[in-house]
Order: sequence, then C-alpha cells, then structure tokens
Amino acid sequence: MRVDEVPAEATYALRGAVLRPDGGDIVWPGDEDPTTFHLGAMIDDRVVGVVRFSPVPCPWRPLARAAWQLRGMATEVAVRGSGAGRAMVEDGLRRVAERGGDVVWCDARVSAVGFYERMGFEVVTGEYDKPGIGPHRGMLRDLTPADGSRSG
Ligand SMILES: CC(C)(COP(=O)(O)OP(=O)(O)OC[C@H]1O[C@@H](n2cnc3c(N)ncnc32)[C@H](O)[C@@H]1OP(=O)(O)O)[C@@H](O)C(=O)NCCC(=O)NCCS
Repeated sequence: MRVDEVPAEATYALRGAVLRPDGGDIVWPGDEDPTTFHLGAMIDDRVVGVVRFSPVPCPWRPLARAAWQLRGMATEVAVRGSGAGRAMVEDGLRRVAERGGDVVWCDARVSAVGFYERMGFEVVTGEYDKPGIGPHRGMLRDLTPADGSRSG
C-alpha cells in the first residue's frame, strides 16, 4: 500500500460508496482549487482510501495563521484496520506542514472520533448534527515545524 497525490475525480467513487451511500453530492466546492490536494491510498492501481486537504479557516481557531481542513476521509471496508487511514493522514499532515499550515481541523463523524484521536487530533466541540449525515464533533491538530521536516 502506498499513498499518492491523486486528482479529485479519483476520490469520487469511494466518497460515494462510503460517505454518501444514500446519494448526495460527491463533488464539493474547492475540489479543483489549485491549493487543494487529494491523497489516495493505493494497492497496485486500485484506490482503497481517499482524503482531501484544503486551506480553510478553522471555525474554532479563527486566529490560526494557516488552517487547513481535512475532509472526505474514507477507506474501503475490506482494508480497514490495516493502516491505510493512518498512512494518508500522516502523509497529509506532513504535506500541510511543508506548505506552512499550523493547524488541521475536521468535522469528525462521532463514529470516527477515536480514529482521529489516534492521529493526534483533539475534540474541541460538543456534538452537532450534519443534516443527512449524522452527529459530528469538531476536532483539530496543531502542527509544529517538526511535522514538516519528518521524512517519509
Ligand atoms: C475512519 C476510517 C477512515 C479509518 O480508516 P482505517 O483505514 O480503518 O484506519 P487505520 O487502519 O489506519 O487505523 C489507524 C488506527 O485507528 C484505529 N481506528 C480506525 N478506525 C477507528 C474508529 N472508527 N474508532 C476508533 N479507532 C479507530 C485503528 O484501530 C488503528 O489503531 P492503531 O493505531 O492501534 O493501529 C474508516 O474506518 C472509514 O472509512 N470509515 C467510514 C467513513 C468515515 O467515518 N470517515 C470519516 C468521516 S469524518
């Protein structure tokens, strides 16, 4: 399994299957922005995991200098628990730090809060509902310059 930067279109099938199984938009504003990047966890040429990072102000850290949003995180059911999610988040945090980001935040599904906690994120809000998707909590991770200088 490897992590590569991929075009937005390469993420849409998994977004649909995992994140919008009942329908709903899988193409989101900002997908094609030049500052946005998309990562795929790849086994051979098969995309088994996807995530998007884009520079968006953090709702809970309005004074952050350079906040990035993590969005559209999904892995194939068959590979869950084998490290694809972790590999994408770690790769993404490194790329964000390289681009000067100082905080990464996300609307975390309550069912995924434990995953993000393992990735070093902290919960910063109570529960809120995203219509049609379910309960979420705000989470963020502060980045230090060291996050950008790690190899790998
Ligand atoms: C959440 C998700 C992306 C995790 O992907 P994954 O490929 O299973 O993650 P990994 O195998 O890299 O797991 C990394 C660690 O997190 C743990 N973990 C994974 N999912 C977890 C969860 N839902 N709750 C608590 N811990 C979790 C793993 O056990 C592993 O622990 P370790 O550090 O002891 O090895 C995946 O389960 C998924 O696509 N879920 C459905 C969509 C979703 O909820 N996306 C997030 C929207 S906010």
